[in-house]
Amino acid sequence: MCGIVGYIGKKQASPILLGGLERLEYRGYDSAGLAVKKDGAETVIVKAKGRLRALAEKTDDGASVKGCCGIGHTRWATHGEPSETNAHPHCSDDKRVIAVHNGIIENYKPLKEKLEKAGYSFYSQTDSEVAVKLLDYYLKKEESPLCALARFMLRVRGSYALAVLFSDEPDKIFVARKDSPLLLGRGENESYLASDIPAILPYTHSVYYMENLEMATLSKSGITFYNIDKEEIHKTPVKITFSAQLAEKNGFEHFMMKEIHEQPQAVEDTLNESIKNGVICLPESLSTARIQALKTVYIVGCGSAYHVGVCAQYVIEDLAKISVRVELASEFRYRAPSLDTNALVIVISQSGETADSLGALRLAKQAGAKTLAIVNVVGSSIAREADEVMYTRAGPEIAVATTKAYSTQLIVCYLLAIAFGKAREQIEKTDCERLLAELFELPKKMHRILEDKERLQWFASKYANANALFVIGRGLDYACALEGGLKTKEISYIHAEAYPAGELKHGTISLIEDGTLVVGVLTQERLFEKTVSNMAEVKSRGAELFAVTTYGNYETESLADFTFYIPRTDEHFAVSLAVIPLQLTAYYISVARGVDVDKPRNLAKSVTVE
Ligand code: G6P
Repeated sequence: MCGIVGYIGKKQASPILLGGLERLEYRGYDSAGLAVKKDGAETVIVKAKGRLRALAEKTDDGASVKGCCGIGHTRWATHGEPSETNAHPHCSDDKRVIAVHNGIIENYKPLKEKLEKAGYSFYSQTDSEVAVKLLDYYLKKEESPLCALARFMLRVRGSYALAVLFSDEPDKIFVARKDSPLLLGRGENESYLASDIPAILPYTHSVYYMENLEMATLSKSGITFYNIDKEEIHKTPVKITFSAQLAEKNGFEHFMMKEIHEQPQAVEDTLNESIKNGVICLPESLSTARIQALKTVYIVGCGSAYHVGVCAQYVIEDLAKISVRVELASEFRYRAPSLDTNALVIVISQSGETADSLGALRLAKQAGAKTLAIVNVVGSSIAREADEVMYTRAGPEIAVATTKAYSTQLIVCYLLAIAFGKAREQIEKTDCERLLAELFELPKKMHRILEDKERLQWFASKYANANALFVIGRGLDYACALEGGLKTKEISYIHAEAYPAGELKHGTISLIEDGTLVVGVLTQERLFEKTVSNMAEVKSRGAELFAVTTYGNYETESLADFTFYIPRTDEHFAVSLAVIPLQLTAYYISVARGVDVDKPRNLAKSVTVE
């Protein structure tokens, strides 16, 4: 959600800014802009509504905006419609202050009133323009840009990753951060800033993560960091181990398809991250005694991360016999859950920056619960603030619709379930070994499903014009259906609803009519016949049926119009396989309908606002 980049050095800034913004496109945006400073000339600001292509065209791919220092921005509208006027960079009337901002200034209204009284006028509807004019206001009162920035940080409530060009100090870019991601990098005689690693990965593999309430100045010769008291602080760079290639499409038409294919490797990497010499390595504070004392496990997340939680609930309750509650972070954070030191709150997040998940984590910590984060992005806010972290090894995920991050989050949850089960003496050592061995078989089985993908393409093309579809299942199959339904709606724009198969007849079955597509997930032996009956009920009311089930369950052939088989695995892990045909079907429907698969409308990958 909003992406910022910045460059100062010897090269032309515009092409670097455009390239960086392109690699941040996945974050979601509806307008873009850049500001570039050339020695002795006035800083040029160019903005465009819509796709980045429009900004590139306006600037002749950056060639027409000359200068070796600049900042760029992709905006996902919050305050004010997507428009050129509301796009960033924003500036003071005399261009003394020019800035790009990611985040939300919560107290922008009283600040705007105060500034209006002081004679400022506003051209946009954004909170970010208020931020820029507040900086200008303080600059007029303070001695230096750094002092103005520090005062700004004390005055505003909300979140910001801010990059500012002050005309008073033309050889520097100033940055400040609170609750919105920001990282800096160094090349030879050049400095970079960005919201996320892919933006600057072609230039540097060594980055500095900005912490909350820190500032920095970037120049050709180096980066200097400051705390809010303007005292210089020292920061150590972090080595990024993944290559720039991981953030490229590598011959696939879309990132989503590439990432679907990366799932076997990502699962294997995640297993190897947490299993050493056949033993699951839990964070230190999750000792056997602590696990035995646990009364309730809460799992909190948004979107697909929440769906992972639903799946984990079934698996942890079954293997470890602990009561698990799964909650949407946006709800959990505004309830008053009765948490104490015997509760464990697990926050699942790919980006580690989702505002509601971060809010939920902070609430849990305040209430005294132990917190564990399952996160993909190293150094992200949730990873840093949680008591403990277990990392997924999905690598950079660019498509808005998550696939490989979801799959790796499932793996970490399975490992927790097995480790908890063992610590609570609910499963034997031999069960534990068998389950782990089965997990290591998953990548191979995922490959087998991927080899069969053309069958799904054929099926998807038949249903690309459907008005609505339902995905149904029971137990873990319902957990899987939730993710299948979300994937379909987010990238195909077809209204897709996941439903517990047994619940259909309590109202929703009235929506079934001739030609409605119902997808049944059937991987749980114990529940198989029950879901088959529910599928028969909708078929007799006109529905067309697609079944996803395991090899050997050939009874569905006579009922379903189309069946896709997945390899057998331990039933606790079946979601990991069953979700792949659902991801692929959603993908193919999306392509057939001409939707922008990787950047569906209105969505953002990293949702940094509530
Ligand atoms: C957005 C993404 C989803 C993701 C959710 C939570 O809505 O489009 O794919 O599941 O945010 O994101 P997180 O980074 O916290 O996992």
